[in-house]
Amino acid sequence: MLQRFSVSLDEDLLARFDEYVRDNGYGNRSEAVRDLIRKGLVRQEWERNSQVIGVVTLVYDHHRPQLQERVTELQHNYYNIITSTTHVHMDHHNCLEVTIVKGRAAEVQELAQGLIALRGVKDGSLTMSSTGGKLR
Ligand code: NI
Repeated sequence: MLQRFSVSLDEDLLARFDEYVRDNGYGNRSEAVRDLIRKGLVRQEWERNSQVIGVVTLVYDHHRPQLQERVTELQHNYYNIITSTTHVHMDHHNCLEVTIVKGRAAEVQELAQGLIALRGVKDGSLTMSSTGGKLR
């Protein structure tokens, strides 16, 4: 069943979109929007399945009860995609832990989000690189 929804666009973007609709031979805007949505979804799926190498950086206070154990436990849940972990004692309280991960983008992001979301983590980030190859 077809569903309708309305979209708000500024004039310039709409003018460019109409040009795109004409240039690509679409009969109307709806056809073009459908195609663009499909392409976006396929691309997202491709990105999630693509092979990446990621670096997860965490800064946390090791005095925080249970935190060190939770970090280790989570890393063990993903042991098959973790290449290495480096721990640096920054000062009396703070630790820097860098985890290098290699695997499917979706899995790498899952692990990074889990680590960064742990209570007591002061700073966390994920950097991903890809050679553009597809894992499956
Ligand atoms: Ni430390």
